[in-house]
Amino acid sequence: MFMNSSSIGQFFEKKFRFCKQSQWQLPAIDNIFNQSNQTVPELFWIKSVLNHVKDQLIDYPLGQWKKFIAKSDLSSFITWYLRNEVNAEFVTREWCKLYECLSAYRIVTPQAEFNSVHLCEAPGAFVASLNHYVMLNYPKSLFNWCATTLNPYHEDNAFRSAVSDCRFIARTLGNWEFGDDLTGDITIKGNVDKLIERCRKMGKISLVTADGSVDCGDCPNDQENMVYSLHFAEVVAALQVLDNDGSFILKMFTFFELTTISLLYFLVNYFHTVDIFKPATSKQCNSEVYVICMGFHRTYETMSYVSEMASRMPHIKSPMFNLDTIPSDFIQQVHDCSKKFVTLQSEAILSNINNFERPICHQQQNDLQYEMWNEYDRRYRIKSIPDSLKLMHNKPFSDVSRVLEQVNIFVCD
Ligand SMILES: C[S@@+](CC[C@H](N)C(=O)[O-])C[C@H]1O[C@@H](n2cnc3c(N)ncnc32)[C@H](O)[C@@H]1O
Repeated sequence: MFMNSSSIGQFFEKKFRFCKQSQWQLPAIDNIFNQSNQTVPELFWIKSVLNHVKDQLIDYPLGQWKKFIAKSDLSSFITWYLRNEVNAEFVTREWCKLYECLSAYRIVTPQAEFNSVHLCEAPGAFVASLNHYVMLNYPKSLFNWCATTLNPYHEDNAFRSAVSDCRFIARTLGNWEFGDDLTGDITIKGNVDKLIERCRKMGKISLVTADGSVDCGDCPNDQENMVYSLHFAEVVAALQVLDNDGSFILKMFTFFELTTISLLYFLVNYFHTVDIFKPATSKQCNSEVYVICMGFHRTYETMSYVSEMASRMPHIKSPMFNLDTIPSDFIQQVHDCSKKFVTLQSEAILSNINNFERPICHQQQNDLQYEMWNEYDRRYRIKSIPDSLKLMHNKPFSDVSRVLEQVNIFVCD
């Protein structure tokens, strides 16, 4: 895809909505988790196409490629602007992506009190972004939040938490829940139970975000299978704390395997709407998308499913549903959705390969970055908020020793 300033708008319209059919229903609870995983035949060739395109990157030296991708990142001016001109708090790419989700869908509604829970949230930019959105649009709302993540101060997480910036966590430590064993690992049922207990005291939870990811650098073609148990745990935790009619934002990648498709089918059945959205500030070459679930139906039936799911943690590998219990018109929609996002990702990779081989001039690159910011600004109109409404305002570094006393010390600098 050749990019010019007039095609910038399409970066903001990477969306797909599942269209729920009234005859769809979930299998009985005693007939779930009894098939092994498989790639769904209709999706197999889409997976092969994507892997074939990704494999072309093997020819390029990783270090040079990463440098090139960072330099040609179209959203770099957006983050610069939000940090330096809007003076927003703790701006990262994640901050920008969540702000897009919140602006593109009616996730936050005016309420006297808005409570949210954030799973897999270190270093915390989603929270800062949501705070900015609520303070700008509903300044009279009281915003309460709680977050959980792999505990960056826990020795066992030294190599897997990968959080290099603990400023936000240290200044808001009272809002973080690291669970029963203090690792913060959401795939451990005891940690989810501790989070639920804490959230009960918060009141109505209107939004849960889950942004978990694991390093799949060694097997990029198997990302979907590697993150399944994490996604499963995020759904189990989210649906136990979310109130009726609430929203859930879940980061996912591809939808080729029966495991992921079952999870998606489950969500589509228990939310009023489910959309797949790739924000313009999400890296164009990766598979990351956000599943935007709105209008949770918190019924007895839903919660029975969720507790059955919880009993399967932590090392879930099997899909929830047999392939023959998932309607073919749902599989067709997953196929259409996957085809759309795989096409976009493949085009982005091929366009980058082309630009790597024949670099575009510096001025052209700057113009595109400027246009991207212009469109982001035109759509989302992000203004400054007073410092007093920021989450780290007047918050000293917490007494981190309180956490360190309880865990095997690992200090994050
Ligand atoms: C992309 S980062 C989240 C970024 C965050 N939303 C933000 O805005 O700053 C993914 C996070 O998932 C966390 N994570 C990965 N596996 C986890 C697990 N099993 N339990 C809890 N958190 C996990 C990582 O520690 C990491 O902080």
